[in-house]
Amino acid sequence: MRDASPQTVYLKDYTPPEYLIDQIELHFELDEQRTRVQARMNVRRNPHSSADSVALKLWGEELQLLSIAIDGRPLQENEFVVGDEALIVHEAPQDRPFEILIENLIDPQANTALEGLYLSSSMLCTQCEAQGFRKITWFLDRPDVMSRFKTTLVADKAKYPVLLSNGNKTGSGELENNRHWVSWEDPFAKPCYLFALVAGQLACVADQFVTMSGRRIDLQIFVEQHNVDKCGHAIQSLKNAMRWDEQTYGLEYDLDLYMIVAVDHFNMGAMENKGLNVFNTKFVLARPDTATDSDYEHIEGVIGHEYFHNWSGNRVTCRDWFQLSLKEGFTVFRDQQFSGDMTSPAVKRIEDVNALRTRQFAEDAGPLAHPVRPEAYIEINNFYTLTVYEKGAEVVRMLHTLLGAAGFRMGCDLYFQRHDGQAVTCEDFVKALEDANGVELGQFRRWYSQAGTPVVTVEQDYDAANGRLQLTLRQSCPPTPNQPVKQPLHIPVKLGLLNADGSPATFEFAGQPHTEVTLDLTAAEQSFNFGNLAGKPVVSLLRGFSAPVTLQMPRSLDELAFLLSHDSDTFNRWEAGQQLATQAIFQLIDSIELGRPLQLEPIVVDAYRRVLADAGGDLSYQALLLALPEESYLSGQMPVIDVEAVHQAREFVKKTLAENLAEQFLELYRQYHRDESGCFDAGAVGRRRLKNACLSYLCKLETPDSHRLAEQQFRAARNMTDQISALAAIVNSRHPDQDDCLDSFYRQWQQEALVIDKWFTLQATSSMPNTFAKVQNLMRHPAFDMKTPNRVRALVGAFSQSNPLHFHAANGEGYRFLADRVIELNALNPQIASRMVSGLAQWRRYDANRQSLMKQELQRIVATDHLSKDVYEIASKSLA
Ligand code: PHE
Ligand code: ZN
Repeated sequence: MRDASPQTVYLKDYTPPEYLIDQIELHFELDEQRTRVQARMNVRRNPHSSADSVALKLWGEELQLLSIAIDGRPLQENEFVVGDEALIVHEAPQDRPFEILIENLIDPQANTALEGLYLSSSMLCTQCEAQGFRKITWFLDRPDVMSRFKTTLVADKAKYPVLLSNGNKTGSGELENNRHWVSWEDPFAKPCYLFALVAGQLACVADQFVTMSGRRIDLQIFVEQHNVDKCGHAIQSLKNAMRWDEQTYGLEYDLDLYMIVAVDHFNMGAMENKGLNVFNTKFVLARPDTATDSDYEHIEGVIGHEYFHNWSGNRVTCRDWFQLSLKEGFTVFRDQQFSGDMTSPAVKRIEDVNALRTRQFAEDAGPLAHPVRPEAYIEINNFYTLTVYEKGAEVVRMLHTLLGAAGFRMGCDLYFQRHDGQAVTCEDFVKALEDANGVELGQFRRWYSQAGTPVVTVEQDYDAANGRLQLTLRQSCPPTPNQPVKQPLHIPVKLGLLNADGSPATFEFAGQPHTEVTLDLTAAEQSFNFGNLAGKPVVSLLRGFSAPVTLQMPRSLDELAFLLSHDSDTFNRWEAGQQLATQAIFQLIDSIELGRPLQLEPIVVDAYRRVLADAGGDLSYQALLLALPEESYLSGQMPVIDVEAVHQAREFVKKTLAENLAEQFLELYRQYHRDESGCFDAGAVGRRRLKNACLSYLCKLETPDSHRLAEQQFRAARNMTDQISALAAIVNSRHPDQDDCLDSFYRQWQQEALVIDKWFTLQATSSMPNTFAKVQNLMRHPAFDMKTPNRVRALVGAFSQSNPLHFHAANGEGYRFLADRVIELNALNPQIASRMVSGLAQWRRYDANRQSLMKQELQRIVATDHLSKDVYEIASKSLA
């Protein structure tokens, strides 16, 4: 058990900082086990603070103090105190600015938490968001304290030839004992969470970008030598992002240099440190034979995301960590727009909604539900959530919908102009959008403070005599932790109507003719009237998924099939197919639970036959239409999740479609299967997606022919998309040469860590029997390493989060396995440990037997000695 329960931090307790640090000069003598840090800080009282204490509290953890002086005078022992979390100077000068000089030691090699300064492979790097800077030196580690940073790095020249930090390089030189130094200066004041340094033997891939005002920017990507041939896509994505932000938001890059460093050990995806992004290698490195099309897409998205933070996050930052979505929700929205513009907006939107509904909706419905702007936390690292990021992006998207593209742009212009160089709040963002557009968004603000996914129900009333349709919409939101009662939200509902022949109907709304409108649903119950209709229309509601809600609208299979064929809204066309499949699967689940024979409605087969015959030419979109709803999406709609029935019913649909449409699947497969080296262009990506979707259906036939098809593709593939898709089909079937294929894949790629991650994940997510035993064996594989987050996610994360069938084994072995891993990870890397707990958090959704097994494991975790705040918060809130 913990000795004391950890403290909760509340938004309502926010007060401005008592002191400010205008400038900091850092001097590092880098060493793997004994890095010496000297910090010279210019401190003054904050004129806007009303606090009257004379003490100065600087945050710091796991630091060894060597000396402390104020204005050149070393402090006596009775003038300050050093605790586990902070250093307090009892009486700081009040009447004038002063200088504090601190010297301390840190041990990067012992740092397996990967926060602060740490060793990744042979390089030294930092991660300071959210509160890692306090593991480097004592500081006012909070985002509303912004300082100008000057940094000097001293290190062994052979081990650490490359020495990087934020801003511009201002000098370098040689020292005795084979040491050298480089100094950096960042002209922009920033919070310390944006500080970074990197040291190592790194190769540089360089390029240039000329900004809209004609400034020439140096772009540099630093990687280990053997990865220089995998940086082309990242560089191209960066240039595309820079151009896109100029064209879409009028925002230009501000320094003369933009650096990205790729590291093997990283807790998250990437980090937007000013001028020096640090990236998980997963989101930089790609070559057609090592990375899939979806890896290419993720790289483009994350490169864009970190670049866009330069304005939405760095130039304008967060006042406090409760405002995290101010930078993250907005920046995710921006990267989603960017990726859509680079590829296909329709496909990108479907992928984003799919991720939101399968994962964020579950978070919003569980014990860890919290508002986009949380009100309390124990460990801020636990709030880098799907809600803050993805739902936060949906909130920004709704603002974009409500104001229109031009109005939204005016609002963003005002926001950046008004708050440049400041640390602000979500409220400031909404206010800027209001002021620029002369509108009032009062009720809309509830999206920031109210947790939970609203449910919208629909009632239709068609008056044939007058050609009028009345829609009555009702909204409600289930209670979430600490929020038993919910207020109505302002929900933008985009709507179109279809004529009986499938063409878009023109209708009268609010006295005007329309083909599409956005309804403002603001009350708990509200009716809308549409006139001038020639016949009863089919309603297409929540087009483009215009709000993050669950829409409950009873529809017949016929109506869904009709929309799947005719809706002009690409999102709703796809959604009709998903609902069609969902209804079919739920009928089968009922049959399974009642022990009745399984039968798929012919109308479903016909609908898929039409999708296979033609989907309008966009092959990626066609592949999405063919993809059945995921098991986790289906489970999310069951009062008590029955993992086996969900799996069995979905497999039955897939197999039945494969049997009935085998010829068409094979024909399409043959039509688009080429021996491609794998270049990432829309045409090739679409061909591969569609062909591999067909292959995964065909493999459900379990015939020698289908097995041969998969194996041929696997052996001949010259690009990773085709190779891994074939291997996935093999691993998820009763293919006789499964083990042989897995072995040969391992031998081929053992030098490529990111590919080996895929190899772990494929096996961890297999639905075949014996998967759990394989996962246990893989834990002992020489390539497995608990200190490498990508590996842990690839095996432990994938098994517990993406293999519901085996993770939820009724005997509880999956749960016990996960709790053991969490307890091990707790001592190594609390952030990763706490993310792994999420597999157990949804225990209330399962049957009584599984509930008690999962709870038992959560209790075992909570009772662990030396439990980190991270794990304690997630595990204890899950139990509450
Ligand atoms: N700020 C990073 C991003 O979203 C995420 C991150 C958070 C990375 C904390 C590391 C640590 O772009
Ligand atoms: Zn971000």
